[in-house]
Amino acid sequence: MDLPSTPAAKRAEVIYRRRFSPAWRDRLWRMLQPPAPLIHDPRETEVEAPLGRWNLYLGGAGARAPGYVNVDLFAVPGVDVAASAEALPFPDGLFQRVECDAVLEHVENPEKVMGEITRVLAPGGFAHLVVPFCHPFHEYPRDYRRYTLHGLLQLAGSLEVVAAGWRTGPTATLLVFFLEYVKLWLPWRPLRVVAHGVLGWLLWPLRYLDVILRRSARAGRIGNHCYVWLRKPG
Ligand SMILES: C[S@@+](CC[C@H](N)C(=O)[O-])C[C@H]1O[C@@H](n2cnc3c(N)ncnc32)[C@H](O)[C@@H]1O
Repeated sequence: MDLPSTPAAKRAEVIYRRRFSPAWRDRLWRMLQPPAPLIHDPRETEVEAPLGRWNLYLGGAGARAPGYVNVDLFAVPGVDVAASAEALPFPDGLFQRVECDAVLEHVENPEKVMGEITRVLAPGGFAHLVVPFCHPFHEYPRDYRRYTLHGLLQLAGSLEVVAAGWRTGPTATLLVFFLEYVKLWLPWRPLRVVAHGVLGWLLWPLRYLDVILRRSARAGRIGNHCYVWLRKPG
């Protein structure tokens, strides 16, 4: 496993550790964070894909994943196994569910990851993939690519496509890019942090415009993240 020792990788690790840190400064930091400028389309979770005895969560550093074995490059609290999704240390057919949410854009070789997901899935098991289409550059710990919905579907390989669509819509795209754009004008990090907080709190209610826009067949032209549910035959 080759964990880059870049400043971005170190920053990512600090962010993950801060998410669960009990220190009062980190608690205050979490309280001041504005709500995310996006909402999820509920159709994404309408698929019936029950958890099994063993389920896998890829790339869950800084997140809690109850019911899953949480695998990430970074061995931070909450991660059960530090490993690369490109070479999973698990036997074939072990997992009933695999979650791969906003990870494929960060791995060196997404085809290898898909090969591993297919291998460790139990016959009849489900994989849920989410990837960004229109989203700012974000290194966790690298950022290699974006996907259209067609590009995501191409990764399915031998897995059956059960459902596919857009998780987050055009307004989410506009808001996340607007926040990044404003920060480009600010040369100092403390200023960017304040701008992100202030603008984030002012703008987040606009995210509900996507409740209307996601009904449009054209919403995907500037959709934010798309998803696919896949099932291993058998
Ligand atoms: C954008 S974050 C995913 C966020 C997470 N799904 C969530 O909802 O909180 C991407 C994650 O993938 C991890 N990651 C990147 N490359 C990886 C790899 N080759 N194997 C496993 N995890 C990786 C990163 O460390 C990071 O935690």
